[in-house]
Amino acid sequence: MRMVELIEKKRDGKALTTEEIQYFVNGYTAGIIPDYQAAALLMAIVLRGMDDRETGDLTLAMAYSGEVLDLKDVAPFVVDKHSTGGVGDKVSLVVAPTVAACGLPVGKMSGRGLGFSGGTLDKLESVPGFRADLSVAEFKAQLKQIGIVLTGQSANLAPADGKLYALRDVTGTVQSIPLITSSIMSKKIAAGADAIVLDVKVGSGAFMKSMEDAQRLAEGMVRIGRTVGRQVVALISDMNQPLGYAVGNILEVREAIDTLHGGGPTDFRDHCLEIAGEMLCLGGKAGSAAEGVQLAKETIAGGRAWEKFRQLIIAQGGDVRYVDDPARFPIATIVETIPAPQSGYLAAVRADEIGMAVLALGGGREKKGDPLDHQVGVVLHCKVGDKIAAGAPLFTVHANDPARRDEAVQRVLRALTFSPVEVPPLPLFYGRLA
Ligand code: URA
Repeated sequence: MRMVELIEKKRDGKALTTEEIQYFVNGYTAGIIPDYQAAALLMAIVLRGMDDRETGDLTLAMAYSGEVLDLKDVAPFVVDKHSTGGVGDKVSLVVAPTVAACGLPVGKMSGRGLGFSGGTLDKLESVPGFRADLSVAEFKAQLKQIGIVLTGQSANLAPADGKLYALRDVTGTVQSIPLITSSIMSKKIAAGADAIVLDVKVGSGAFMKSMEDAQRLAEGMVRIGRTVGRQVVALISDMNQPLGYAVGNILEVREAIDTLHGGGPTDFRDHCLEIAGEMLCLGGKAGSAAEGVQLAKETIAGGRAWEKFRQLIIAQGGDVRYVDDPARFPIATIVETIPAPQSGYLAAVRADEIGMAVLALGGGREKKGDPLDHQVGVVLHCKVGDKIAAGAPLFTVHANDPARRDEAVQRVLRALTFSPVEVPPLPLFYGRLA
């Protein structure tokens, strides 16, 4: 088989065979197929798509590029969740410890920043010492010991996704239903959870801009999960503005810590409770998702979710003094609050532009392997529907470079639209698929 022929075939809109897909995934994982050919094929997939059979084949080839965990010797029932990517999406930082604190083990393989969206692993690595590269043995031992793991792809766990993910991030090849489906579901299959809640985002800060695409993505992922014997629920959620207020690695960790202490932004907290409620219901800890929400609320209020978060940080080598006292986190050299240029109601937010502003500040990667600046980011001071007076604080930028600060401020200002008439707030969720 020749890689160039596979690229040409997909470029011309033809379906790849199972063997061709395996050849690509195995060859790229082994380092035999170079980045430039893999990137060309990814772009052809973005432009030409894949049918359900190809997407299923790609998912399985990626899942089986490493070990597929069987967790039966570790825990009787393990749950997981995954978001399709958003801006200000720090949900896993709150949901995973909350659910684990209810006695339901959470074994999760997360991702890094992808395009304009942030990544859970990058956020957690803001805590000095935190390790997101656990081996299979470490994954299992930690899950058994404390009932929670939040790690990344490794040489043994979904290595194909580890490599393809990093390449997609910097080659404009994120926005594709088959590529997102295979990336997410390969990780979920490899990590071995019995039940999975998928948080499928739709809107300006999501990879799926239309409800129709979000629905298609959700249906495809649920179908693949079922085929491999997992229980899967997908919630379609709003991403037409950042979740919570903070966007940027340390800033988001701090917002998640506030939420685990019972505070935090209302939209973010309510979103986390819904996801946790679904997970607790799937795992049999609650009779319904609504009961699960109540249990999650009590677990946060009782301090048990916070205690589980601390255990997670300690178990994975993080310096717990930072989360215990977030004032220890380093602060960017430029912290500046920008006033509203006019009065009115916040009508719309280009959340992807906010994500790009944070990327421009150094909070994301321009090239594979670029180091991140964990300090930088943007904190909005309002949500869609809020009334703002001219001159009132609109957002705060955290920057370490004046030129980057200027670019980020301009981007955020362009991303916000005001209306002279009242605007309703945005919903959190649009639908559920099971
Ligand atoms: N999350 C993932 O893990 N992969 C994607 O492609 C998008 C979101």
